Amino acid sequence: MYKFLFAPGVLFLLISCESGVKNPKKEFTGKEIFKNNCVLCHGIKGDLMTNGAKDLRLSEMKIEERILIITKGRNVMTGFEDKLGSEEIRKVAEYTMTLKEQ
Ligand code: HEC
Repeated sequence: MYKFLFAPGVLFLLISCESGVKNPKKEFTGKEIFKNNCVLCHGIKGDLMTNGAKDLRLSEMKIEERILIITKGRNVMTGFEDKLGSEEIRKVAEYTMTLKEQ
């Protein structure tokens, strides 16, 4: 009798451990963060310039300044310190650096 209860129990444990390994908490890439938060004003290529947003393809801004403006905001652009973690802000800032080359 015990054998019949035990086997499915072990199987269930194995399956739940396995799926835990396969689905770690999803991390967004810089591109995804940009799509989710920035395209409204900057556009997918960075050149939309809604509400006076700067053309990110032409920006000469250094990475530290970008991180600062994304964190704290400037004029019409709101800061993202409440919405994004510092790691995500760094990733999306790095992504904006790549828009220039496209
Ligand atoms: C509400 C519209 C809006 C959103 C959303 C927005 N921006 Fe902006 N962004 C602006 C505006 C407007 C400026 C120009 C600010 C100024 O200097 O007056 C700007 C400027 C910038 C600059 C500086 C460019 C330069 O050379 O001066 C960077 C970098 C930037 N945005 C990145 C981002 C990123 C990354 C996101 C998403 C996390 C984002 N922005 C979301 C409106 C927006």
